[in-house]
Amino acid sequence: MLMDNASQTIQPLRIAVLVSGSGSNLQVLINAMQAGALPIEIVGVISNREDAYAITRAQDAAIPVAVLSHVASGKRMGIKTFETHASAQLVEWQADLIVLAGFMRVLSADFIDNAPAPMINLHPSLLPAYKGLDTHQRAIQAGERHHGCSIHVVTAELDAGAVLTQALLEINQKDTTNSLQTRVQKLEHQLLPWTIMLIAKGVINLNSQGTEAFSMLPALPLQLWLNN
Ligand code: GRF
Repeated sequence: MLMDNASQTIQPLRIAVLVSGSGSNLQVLINAMQAGALPIEIVGVISNREDAYAITRAQDAAIPVAVLSHVASGKRMGIKTFETHASAQLVEWQADLIVLAGFMRVLSADFIDNAPAPMINLHPSLLPAYKGLDTHQRAIQAGERHHGCSIHVVTAELDAGAVLTQALLEINQKDTTNSLQTRVQKLEHQLLPWTIMLIAKGVINLNSQGTEAFSMLPALPLQLWLNN
């Protein structure tokens, strides 16, 4: 949330969301915005897949959408072209925060370093454990007792930026990859709006450099046990 110096009114945090799939996390943000439960304005959604259901969710909420399909008319869009268009769009929307919610393309270091706003990612594991794909299956196979999801700052190294928040659950003996994915997704739907609230309220400050960026908090990541 930003203070407008002239009028001293409180401006909502302008969020752009990058998606590739169903968009259930996007839907949670849309619902919270529409209910006035989060001080945000979703200024636009970028999808790298033209068949992503997230596009329908955004359009139903009258949110601008840019579809930058990685395969358009049979031609593959290279990451550089995607990033050039995405960058221009983010600048045009004047996003304060870029949220990767189920966005499945790996972005270049150049794009990340020059992004027009801080960027966070939702990852389905307790980072730094299980970076990359197939996190639920790998956690079960390794016999982990705990699993969950993390929200971290996006840096050039994959899933390696500062972890801001995490939500944890206990893996049950009867959990399968599918059941665990469903349980973790319920956590994601609570962790994402909760984390964005902390950013919007300035409790987590992504704009300062270095460790003092998070000095208002005793220690990060904040870890939560949530109902799932
Ligand atoms: C989430 O489960 C996230 O952890 C993973 O992709 C999924 C996206 O879900 N990276 P949705 O598109 O928000 O429904």
